[in-house]
Formats: sequence, C-alpha cells, structure tokens
Amino acid sequence: HRRSVVVGCGAYLPDTVVTNTDLAERGIETSDEWIVQRTGIRQRHIARPDETTSVLGTRAALAALDEAGLSPADIDLVICATSTPDHTFPSTATQIQAALGIEGGFAFDLQAVCAGFVYAVATADRFLTTGGARRALVVGAETFSRLLDWEDRTTCVLFGDGAGAIVLEAREGDGTNADRGVLSSCLRSDGRHRAKLYVDGGPGSTGTTGKLRMEGREVFRFAVGSVTDVIEEAFRASGTTADDLAWFVPHQANRRIIEASADKLGIAREKVVLTVDRHGNTSAASIPLALDAARRDGRIREGDLVMIEAIGGGFTWGAALIRW
Ligand code: ACO
Repeated sequence: HRRSVVVGCGAYLPDTVVTNTDLAERGIETSDEWIVQRTGIRQRHIARPDETTSVLGTRAALAALDEAGLSPADIDLVICATSTPDHTFPSTATQIQAALGIEGGFAFDLQAVCAGFVYAVATADRFLTTGGARRALVVGAETFSRLLDWEDRTTCVLFGDGAGAIVLEAREGDGTNADRGVLSSCLRSDGRHRAKLYVDGGPGSTGTTGKLRMEGREVFRFAVGSVTDVIEEAFRASGTTADDLAWFVPHQANRRIIEASADKLGIAREKVVLTVDRHGNTSAASIPLALDAARRDGRIREGDLVMIEAIGGGFTWGAALIRW
C-alpha cells in the first residue's frame, strides 16, 4: 500500500502589501468596510514586475525542500498549478525545475484555476502510488494581479499574488486511514459554467492576455451550494467523517463562502484555517499558503487529518484528505 506522504511545506509572498484602504486611496471606489464585510479580505500581497509566477513558485519550492531536508536533485516530478504562467509555453513547472537546478524527472503545469492545487495533489498522488515517480514537488503559484481589470471594483479587490508548495514522497503504509499521506481525493468539473468566471483573452481569442471577468453572485451560489459532493466523497472513500478532521483548509476566496461550507458539512469553525484576510484570493496558491501558515504556527501536526477543498473557474472543484 503505497502512500504519498507530505514531507515538507513552504510558501512565498511578495513583499508589497496593499491594504483595502490603499486601494480606496488609489482611486478605486471602495472601502475597507465594504470589502471586509463581504469577503473578510483586509490586505493582499502584489508581485513586483520581476516577480513572475515561476519566481514565486521557486521560492516556495525552496522553502518546502528546506523543511523536508531534501535537495532539488531528490525530486523527480514537479507539478505547478497555475492560471498565470510566465509564458504560454514552456510551462512554469519546467522553469521552476530549471531554477532549482533539477536535471532529471519531469515537470508540467496543471490548469484548474482556483482548484488547481487540489487537482495537482490528486495527480501527483497517482504518479507516486503507481511508481511513476518517487518524490513530487507540488506547487501552487499565481500572479493574478496581472489578470485584473483595475477599473472593475467588483473583481480587483478580491485577488492577490503568492505561492505555496509541498513535497510528497512515496512511502509504504498498511493501507488503513491511520496511514500518513493522501488518503483519498475527488475531482469534478462542469464546463457549462464558463461565463460565470473566465478570462476574456488568450491566443485563441483576442491574442492578448485578457482580464478576469466574474459574476460574483453566481460563483458564490455555486461555491456554497454544490461543492460539498467532493468533500463527502473524499470522506466516504477513506472511511472517515467530519468528526475525524483536525483541520479544514479550503481555497481562500471569501470568508462567507468558507464559513457557510464548513457549517453545511458540520465542520466546527475552530477547525477552519483562514488566511483570506491577509492574502486575499491567490487562486491555486491559496491552499498551500494556508497549509504553510497553519504548519508554522503549530496548528497542523504530524498525524492530523486535513481536508483541502477548492472550487475554481470552469467550474472545476475537488477535495483531498491528507493524514499529515
Ligand atoms: N466596493 C464597494 N462597493 C462595491 C464593490 C466594491 N469593491 N463591488 C461592488 N460593489 C457594489 C455593487 O456595485 C453593488 O452596488 P449597487 O447595489 O448600488 O448596485 C453592491 O456593492 C452590491 O454588489 P453585489 O455584487 O450584489 O455584492 P455581493 O454581496 O454579491 O458581493 C462579492 C460581491 C463579494 C463578489 C460576492 O458576490 C462574492 O463573494 N462572490 C464570490 C466570488 C468569489 O469569491 N470569487 C472568487 C473567485 S472564484 C473562486 O476563487 C472560486
């Protein structure tokens, strides 16, 4: 019974912090009160022009390797979940691979917008448990500030930049849910929802990068109403329940979505890790950033059962249960 065990976790946030009040002072018709009340967001980090997604991802990866006590040469798979790659191609993952000096193995990007990190964990788990790789670096890295329409107050106040990473290692377990590692995962998508959250550009349309467009209310409704299916399936597949959870680490889009989902699932509020107040919505980076925060402040410990869950554009959604 091979398992994918988390052996390291790291994160990187750009130095520049922009508060809600800063946004209002820069001419966006908004207020700290409006943003906090609707979303829970108080500030976000914004990357400098030279801080591309691969630069953020490489820093997070180095922090994760450091915690694991491993060197880059120990890694034979790099997956980068991102919707804001440095270039259309080559992949950001190969750029991270090169920046780390990894010469072996393979690397690729995975695009499932805000659900990207959950998709990437599930994908890495398949390679590790079937012998396709031994140690995987799973990175979520984003620079959403570059996709924002700064004239659109309904979206530009919601997002931030950052990166997080974990190292997964294939180890033998006894096949029970007491094993460390990824116990189960469940992924879903439904492309009919495209118009509710998308970027209005790309090589196949305008030829420009484009800007993020969102029907906020529709996304809110779907996020709270429909994503519990993957969580319930992840519990069922591993023979665990919400009572067994130590920590619920959802995608950090909006405090109200997170709390409504936790309540619906019967997950106690004190088990919910929240970083949206400090990071805003960093898309595929938000879960590894939150995992890192809860690791470093001593909340997540070895043996804890952790549920990660996200929904993103598409829609895409998914959940994974990890015995840390
Ligand atoms: N500052 C001040 N006022 C604003 C702002 C702003 N930044 N943005 C909108 N408003 C105004 C609107 O113009 C509107 O004014 P009106 O009543 O005069 O027309 C009023 O506030 C209410 O606007 P709504 O859009 O109805 O506000 P709502 O309560 O729906 O909140 C929000 C908007 C926060 C976007 C909410 O819909 C939401 O959280 N949706 C989920 C979206 C989300 O989290 N997406 C994340 C990306 S997807 C993902 O990560 C899964």
